Parts: sequence; C-alpha cells; structure tokens
Amino acid sequence: DMPRPYSAALTIPPVLAPTNTTVVDGVRTNYYTLSQQAGMARILPRLSTPILGYNGTFPGPTIKIERGTKAILRMRNRLPATHPSLGHTLAMSTHLHGSASLPQFDGYANDLCLPGFAKDYQFPNFQPARTLWYHDHAVHFTAQNVYSGLAGQYHLTDPEEKGLLPQGTYDVPLTVSDAMFAADGKLGFDTRQQSGLFGDVVLVNGQPWPVMKVRKRVYRFRVLNASISRSYRFYLSTGAPVTMVATDGGLMPVAQTVANWRHGGAERYEVLIDFSKYGTGQRVELRNLSNDNNRDYDHTSKVMAFDVVDDPIDKSDPTWNRLPTTLIPSEVMNLKAAAATKIRRFRLKHNDVTNAWTIDDRTWEDVIASNFREVMANPALNATEIWEFENSSGGWNHPLHIHLIDFQILSRNGKAPFAYEKGPKDVMYLGEGETVKAVMKFGPHKGRYMVHCHNLVHEDHSMMAQFSVGLGPT
Ligand code: C2O
Ligand code: CU
Repeated sequence: DMPRPYSAALTIPPVLAPTNTTVVDGVRTNYYTLSQQAGMARILPRLSTPILGYNGTFPGPTIKIERGTKAILRMRNRLPATHPSLGHTLAMSTHLHGSASLPQFDGYANDLCLPGFAKDYQFPNFQPARTLWYHDHAVHFTAQNVYSGLAGQYHLTDPEEKGLLPQGTYDVPLTVSDAMFAADGKLGFDTRQQSGLFGDVVLVNGQPWPVMKVRKRVYRFRVLNASISRSYRFYLSTGAPVTMVATDGGLMPVAQTVANWRHGGAERYEVLIDFSKYGTGQRVELRNLSNDNNRDYDHTSKVMAFDVVDDPIDKSDPTWNRLPTTLIPSEVMNLKAAAATKIRRFRLKHNDVTNAWTIDDRTWEDVIASNFREVMANPALNATEIWEFENSSGGWNHPLHIHLIDFQILSRNGKAPFAYEKGPKDVMYLGEGETVKAVMKFGPHKGRYMVHCHNLVHEDHSMMAQFSVGLGPT
C-alpha cells in the first residue's frame, strides 16, 4: 500500500533526557545513553517497516544541549551481527555532524564498534548554537545504515539564538529523507547501485508527506536533508518567501528572504515561516521543485503540508511575529580571504574504469592502502586557508562535507554565493559543473579528519579523503 500525501500527522522525535549531570570545577557535563537497535516503524498505512535506529526509532531522539555544557554519549551497539536484509556486518561508527570533536570521537569511518560493544563519545559543545545531527559513518556501509534509520538531530543552543528565534513548540525539527518500500513494507535498497538512491516516498521525521497544524504566528523549522542521495529545492505553495536565519554552523550574520532554496544531503537550513497572514483552514505546502540530476516520481514534488488553525497565540512571546533581520556573525563569517596562507584546489570526478567516485583521482581505498597515512592536505594548526572544489564528474551533484571546521563560501562559479548560503557552512553543494571556493580556519584540534561527498552512496564508493591538522608532512 503506497501512502497518500498529506494523510499522516507530523511527529516530533522525543528529546533525549540525560541520565546524569555533573558539575566539576564549574564545567557542566551531561551524560546520555543511546542504543543502536532494530525496531519496527509505522510509516505505511497498514504495514510495519523494520528499521535500525537509535533507541530503535527513526529518526532518533533529539539531543538538546546548552553551549558550554559538555556531553558524554554512551553509544551501545545492540544491533544484530549482520544487517537483517542487506547482510553486511553491523560494526558502527557514530559521527556528530557539525561538531568540532576530537579525532577519536569524530566517527572516523574505520573506527568501528562491533555488536555487543559500546563507545563513550565526548562532544565539547563550545561552538555557537546550531543544528547538528548524529548519524552512522561506518566505512563502506554508511548509506545502508543511515537509510535503515540511524540518524537524529542534535541542537546546540545559546542565549543569543534564544533571544532571536522561536523556541519550544515553535522550534520544529524537520528531518527530510526519501525511501522506497517493498510490498511487505520493508525498505528497498539496491546494493548494486554505486551512484545513488532515489526513493518515491518523501518522509519528514519518518512520516510520509505529513501534515502539521500551525497557529497564526512565526515558526522556526530546522530543516535537515538526511536523504541518501536526493537534493531538493524547497518552496512554499503560496509563493510566499521564507526567512532564512541559520545555516549548518548556526546563525547567519543577516537573515535572507528567499523564494526557494536548493538543499543538498546533510545541509541544515533554519527557516522562519510566518503563518499569521493566512486564513483559518488554509493549507500551505512545502514543495520540492525538480532539481537537476535527481530522479523524480509522481509525488516527490511534495514534502509536507501546514494546516493553519485559529488557536489562540501567546502574544507575550516576543518571537510570535518577529522576522529578525540582523543576526549574529560567527567567527568564520568574519574571516577575510586575504588572511589565507594557502589556496588548494580539488576536483571531484567519476572513474569510469573502476566505477569509483574520486577526490583528486584518489579514493578512501587509497587511504586504507596507505595505512591511513595518505592526506589530501596538511594545514598547520589555526591556519586559514582557501579550499576550492570543482565538480567535473558530469551528470551528478556532490554535497561535499569537511569535518571539524566551519567555512564561509566566498564564491560559487566565480560569482557571489546564493543568498541563503551566506552563513557558516560545513557542506558545500556542488551541482553539475559547479565550483565553490571557501575560506576556513583549521582547529582547534590537531589530528586527521575526513572530507567526503554526502551522497552516501558516493561516500561508500569511495568518495572520501582525509586531511591532517597540525601534524606537518606525513
Ligand atoms: Cu554527516 Cu562525514 O558526515
Ligand atoms: Cu557525490
């Protein structure tokens, strides 16, 4: 049974409570536990779908934590030894995407935790407020594992963001993904595919094309594209623009009003939508314009709907009708291109002989073969550099993610970046033939960190490299 658009209600993943909090020398630490385990999800009207999820749910619970509070997350691998339908070993690695974690807690692809074991991850949370997400990063199987359900949002909050943007029930995570289903309700995944997975069902927070009831006020949506390969171009059916207030690395210096935005895998955009101008009973759809190099199906132009209700709103909440303009520039948005001590250029390609996806003609297999010594670059600690990526792969998009750091996009195809990417980023969307130049500062940790395409099928085949910080030539 195929689900019908706008028949399910939007669900909000629960916020994970810490198991303990300590304060030592004025430093607060929250302790959390999550179990990676098999579960059953209600996605389709009449069938259950087996998933693998954090605490058995998809998406996983949201972690919400204040800037300056450290987190220690015990991640237990309670998965079966092998994937129930795909058969690979369920050795896992967890990455907190958007966090400047120490290398040993960054979800390094080959740092695997086997079923029956656990790992304590430490997250520093010293960065400005932002929307992060945690997901599996196991070498060669990230696509299968994330597709099976291993992804969740993580919100780092701070007083600046709280003073400017809606909170609580008006601060809504929207994790968008796509999937296809077999007749028995199981998730479909073609493991022979080395280029992408495009589902015919669009899920938001694990529900197909859901509907959310909204009051006549401003809402904040933390939109995460957790799709394996699909990128979107989101817009509202009413033609009204949205107010973009934050990108991957948190608040933009200045809010941007945009009619639509292109949203690649792993990117986070926080948007404000003002429902006060709509009448009771009006439906506002979040839709998806066909984006180049994606596979469209009958209903992939739809994402979700908002139904406006006339419940009373609390007008003492200062954010109820506020669309702020001036926000707060994070450090990376004040970086000047002239401060860069090096410019490096990288090309993204497809190798038609080996059928691998490459970064400067190299793959993660080369890194493995070098016993993890091979690096694409070795910036000094605290060096400011400009990195430029060119997508010359033909017919494909690559959302390129650099671990550890935030960057500021300086130019896109030699021109100004899009209005909505004028904020701190950790993923750059490289459409076919596009070139993006960004400035970034390498720190605060030394070590080796990954760079990869966040089309997870590309990542697994083997569009991933690493750079070192502060380790000199290796
Ligand atoms: Cu979202 Cu290297 O990952
Ligand atoms: Cu790619």
